[in-house]
This record gives sequence, C-alpha cells and structure tokens, in this order.
Amino acid sequence: MSRIETDFVRDGGQLISAGIFNDPDVYRQEIERLFPSCWLFVAHESEIPSHGDFVTRQMGDDPVIVSRDTSGHVHVLLNVCRHHGRKVCEEDAGRVARFRCGYHGWTYDSAGKLVAVPFEQAYGDHLDRASNALCEATVDTHRGFIFARWNPGESLAEYLGPMAWVLDLVFGRTDAVEVVGPPIRWLADSNWKLGAANFAGDGYHIFTTHGFSTQMGLHKLNLAEGPRPVSRALSLQNGHGAALVSLPTPDAASRFLGLPEQLWPQIKRNLDALQQELLDSMVLAAGTVFPNLSFLETAGHTPEEWGGPDRPMSFLSLRQWQPRGPDRMEALSWLFMDRDAPDEWKKTSRTCYERVFGVSGTFEQDDVENWAQITRGLRGPWAKRQWLQMKLGLDATPSPDWKGPGDCYMSGFTEESVRGFYRQWLKLVAHDDD
Ligand code: FES
Ligand code: FE
Repeated sequence: MSRIETDFVRDGGQLISAGIFNDPDVYRQEIERLFPSCWLFVAHESEIPSHGDFVTRQMGDDPVIVSRDTSGHVHVLLNVCRHHGRKVCEEDAGRVARFRCGYHGWTYDSAGKLVAVPFEQAYGDHLDRASNALCEATVDTHRGFIFARWNPGESLAEYLGPMAWVLDLVFGRTDAVEVVGPPIRWLADSNWKLGAANFAGDGYHIFTTHGFSTQMGLHKLNLAEGPRPVSRALSLQNGHGAALVSLPTPDAASRFLGLPEQLWPQIKRNLDALQQELLDSMVLAAGTVFPNLSFLETAGHTPEEWGGPDRPMSFLSLRQWQPRGPDRMEALSWLFMDRDAPDEWKKTSRTCYERVFGVSGTFEQDDVENWAQITRGLRGPWAKRQWLQMKLGLDATPSPDWKGPGDCYMSGFTEESVRGFYRQWLKLVAHDDD
C-alpha cells in the first residue's frame, strides 16, 4: 500500500487530509498518474467545425492541439516539437493546414505528420519523417464532447458509465447544442480539486455561499414559502457525480427550462420519459465528469429590473478546472446554446450567464473565494495535519424508486458524490504502475 493510500483518504472518503491541497508531491502524482489514466475533455466539436480548425488545450500539464484535419478527422496532438521540444502552436484557436515550429521550422500537417524539414539533406540518412509525427492521444467523443487519454484503459463509454445518461439529459436535449465563442479563462489561487468536488455534489454550500441572492431578491427560489424544490443527488461510478433540482410539479409558465416552445418537439424526440419529466420541472443541474470537467444548468426568471419582461430563462455552462500547480488552477468556462433557439432568447440567456457565472458572475466569485481561502488556509504545517469532514448524509440510503442510472439520494444534504470523487482520486493517484 502506498504512502498516499494510507495517509490522505480515510474511511471511504469520509475524511480527507488537508495536505492534498498544497503538497507538491501529491500534485506530481496527480499529474503523472491520475490525469494520464483518465479520459479528459479537450474540446467540443462545435469549437472546430471546419476542416483545419484547431484549439489548443491542456491534458493535465501536457499542452495539446485539438485539430480537425483536412479530411475531417479529429486528432489530439502533443504540442511539443519532435526536434528540440518547442511548442509548435502558440495560438488559442485558428484554422491552418500546417503547424510550423517557430524554432527551426519543422512543419507538421493538421494530422500531426512531419511534412517538411528545412535543410533536410544535412541529416543524410539519419532522419525518418514517418517516426517523427507529433505524439497523438487516443480520442473518442460523446454528444459532441471530445475526450482524449494517454494511457490505455477502458473505453470512453465504460469510463462515463451512468454519467453518459446525465450528459445526454443536459447536452442532448435538443438536436444540437453548441458553444458560444471561446471559453472565458481565468487563473485562481485554488487547488483544482476544490472546483471539481464542489460541482460533483456540494448542495450544502448554496444557502451560505450564495445566500445573498435570495436575500437581495435576485431569484425567486423561496424555501420558506411556495413549492419546495426536490433535490436528487446522483452518485455515479468512477468518481462522477451530479445534482438535479426540480420543482415538485412543472411550473406552467416555465416548462423545459424556459426554452422556447418551438424546441419542445426536439426535447420530446431526444430524451427518454424520465429525462423529459426531470427536464420539465428542472431549476438546476450540476455535475462533474471525473476528474476536472463540470457543468451547470440553471433556470429561473429574469427580473424586471434588468430592463425586460419577467420571463422564464436558463443558461448552460461547461467548465474545466485545469491544474496549474498545487495551489493554482486555470478555470475555463464555456457558454452553450441550443442551436435552434431564437437569437433573442440566446441574447437574454447569455446576459444571465454573464451576470451569474463566468469570471464576472456573482456566484462564480463567491465559489472561487471559498476555494482560494481553503488553499491558502491549508498551507501551513499545522493546518496540513488536519482531517476534513465529508460525512454529510452518511446515513442516507439511495432511493428505491429511482429509475435512472446510478444511486439517487433524495436530498441536497449529502456528500456521497464528494466521497465518491475522492475515492476515485485515491484509486488513480495511489495506483502503482512502476
Ligand atoms: Fe521545433 Fe527545432 S524545436 S524545429
Ligand atoms: Fe456554488
């Protein structure tokens, strides 16, 4: 049993060592063991719709190019030149037929093949182009999400398991959802796990961290009066977790997340009966695809103070918590739109997103401040010896009536998905493949 297994997670995730949020050795294990053994989200297909389109991203610490080659196939290429190791592509996104390294000019096509070498005759017989293509990760997709991984292992379908059903519910509700522009990106003085675990299943923080919004009347979810929302915490295998919050019965004025009625036939065609029932009265969906991809769907009303009519509205965001060191992460946040929604609806949805989440959003700032406070506070030698409590809802049992995938707890007050997240973290970070 490794040092990490005995020292950092106890009792199936009930106790987590404070040391895992700052320790350079733990971080190194995550980068070298955990991230290469996971299917990692790298881009959505709508970000690279045309032949030659690319975006540059990270897989753990490794820079990659997500490239749609000139015949339309998607490749995830290590952004490291096979000559002396310079990045061959520095841009965030673009459309090219070739990537030319800025150091000595080795040039690769959009599939990663080495196609040109300056002064190649000087190599004599000592350069084999075919064996010097850019290193390529294994790629698979689900619902337009492009995932890649380095180490061999289970298929993407096996890896996602029951989480695929939840992704289908949120991102597969209409014929197509697509990103709106590039992701918003920002750096935060936080360990990456804090964002991922929060979205996996921390319904507990909402009332304190985001309590201001109720007090200020920014939304109409009133827990003291009116219909109490129904919370479902889904503990899914492989460290994935999600929370679905619905009204007890659909609100006639805001069915299907307030999406325009012209999209309802698509919803009914794309979702199964349980997914339709959940979406019909949904006010919030959040979740994490292990290890560092999260999503958020919120529905409510736009207040009249925003200058328009009071109307049902929602927005859908995907976010990724990229490690940038033991105590630092880069957050990426994409806004998604149902392709066939009217422009006017899309405009209002975007305004809601920008005011609530994303780097300018009030909720986002409250969340990140918590995670930065934790990361800073757990830096000291005494603080690192503490054990953090993940025991909320330990006595709860999964609902026997749940017809969907995974285990469903009929409460927002459980940390079962957070415990599941850390159990999977332990399994992958402590495994010994040397
Ligand atoms: Fe890329 Fe030399 S490092 S061509
Ligand atoms: Fe939050």
